[in-house]
Amino acid sequence: MANYQTLKKAIEALIDPGYDKTLKEVEGLKKLTIGPTGVVDVIVALKHIDQGYEQEFKLKLTKLVKVQYKFPGIKTEFVRNDFLPKGEKRLVYIGVASGKGGVGKSTVTANLAYALTKLGKKVGIIDADVYGATIADIFNISTAKPTSSEDNMMIPPLALDIEIISTAFFIDSGKPILWRGPMLGKLLNNYFYGVKWRENTDYILIDLPPGTGDTALDISKYAPQTKMIIITIPHLNASSVALKAGLGAQKIGHDLVGVVENMSYYYNNYSHQKEYLFGKGGGELVANNLKVDLLAQIPLNQPQSGHLYESDEKVGKVYLELAEKLISKIK
Ligand SMILES: Nc1ncnc2c1ncn2[C@@H]1O[C@H](COP(=O)(O)OP(=O)(O)OP(=O)(O)O)[C@@H](O)[C@H]1O
Ligand SMILES: [Mg+2]
Repeated sequence: MANYQTLKKAIEALIDPGYDKTLKEVEGLKKLTIGPTGVVDVIVALKHIDQGYEQEFKLKLTKLVKVQYKFPGIKTEFVRNDFLPKGEKRLVYIGVASGKGGVGKSTVTANLAYALTKLGKKVGIIDADVYGATIADIFNISTAKPTSSEDNMMIPPLALDIEIISTAFFIDSGKPILWRGPMLGKLLNNYFYGVKWRENTDYILIDLPPGTGDTALDISKYAPQTKMIIITIPHLNASSVALKAGLGAQKIGHDLVGVVENMSYYYNNYSHQKEYLFGKGGGELVANNLKVDLLAQIPLNQPQSGHLYESDEKVGKVYLELAEKLISKIK
């Protein structure tokens, strides 16, 4: 058996393939102890956490400890490494969640991305609503396909200067998806680790599936620093579900940026009055309860064409203001 220092040096010389750097360089060895019977206890932080990747590393580590250095046993635990190599910019992920379906998550995600782009930001979207992916449709690129980089990463298709990754690119349109947990996990893993976004990307918006449960909100495994925007409509029933989603996200440890109330009112051009078709107050209620700001109240209105609002439309202006607020909040 080698002594502690020799073993430590040898483990730290192992390469984390995600970074293509040694554990020492990425501060990946989080714990190393040798028990009284010689069993080695290690916690290693790796860039990617998924079964295949961990197993491959574990094999190398076990060979080193047990075969090369003849320790009688090894106990290994893997955690995710958040190390940021010098000069690299951390991607800012912003999740859009609502709890309830049909309140405008995808519409807000797409239009917020569009507004951020108009303000000069480089934006990407992950359509994480695997079973109800609509982002590709909104941008009219459902038949697009990601290309592959030299190092086998996905390069997302581009629409209106926004890079987009969606399940719509990988399935036959019109067919239902019946994948279960592990397959879903694999897919999300690819969306978070297997995409080569443009250099200097400012934000990745994530269109999350409806629901307040784990799958809807717990993307912390993939992107622990994800910030969250909660979408609600003004109706109090819908807002209580949005509040649950917000509380759930906070519990998991996500930083909430604020609340967006969608379909807040309809502006009647004849009477020049705001008509509150879905009631009033939901957005404020959710924001107050979560102790965050109500970032925007988006009126009910169809875009002049397609699904995106232009800057000269009333709703387009509201989105630009929302984008500006977001930029200043996330600095
Ligand atoms: N402010 C708005 N004014 C008019 N129509 C809107 C507005 N916001 C969303 N919509 C429309 O409402 C419908 C539902 O919106 P959207 O698909 O964005 O919701 P969602 O929360 O993503 O739904 P799901 O839970 O099914 O993913 C869409 O047809 C969309 O065009
Ligand atoms: Mg949607």
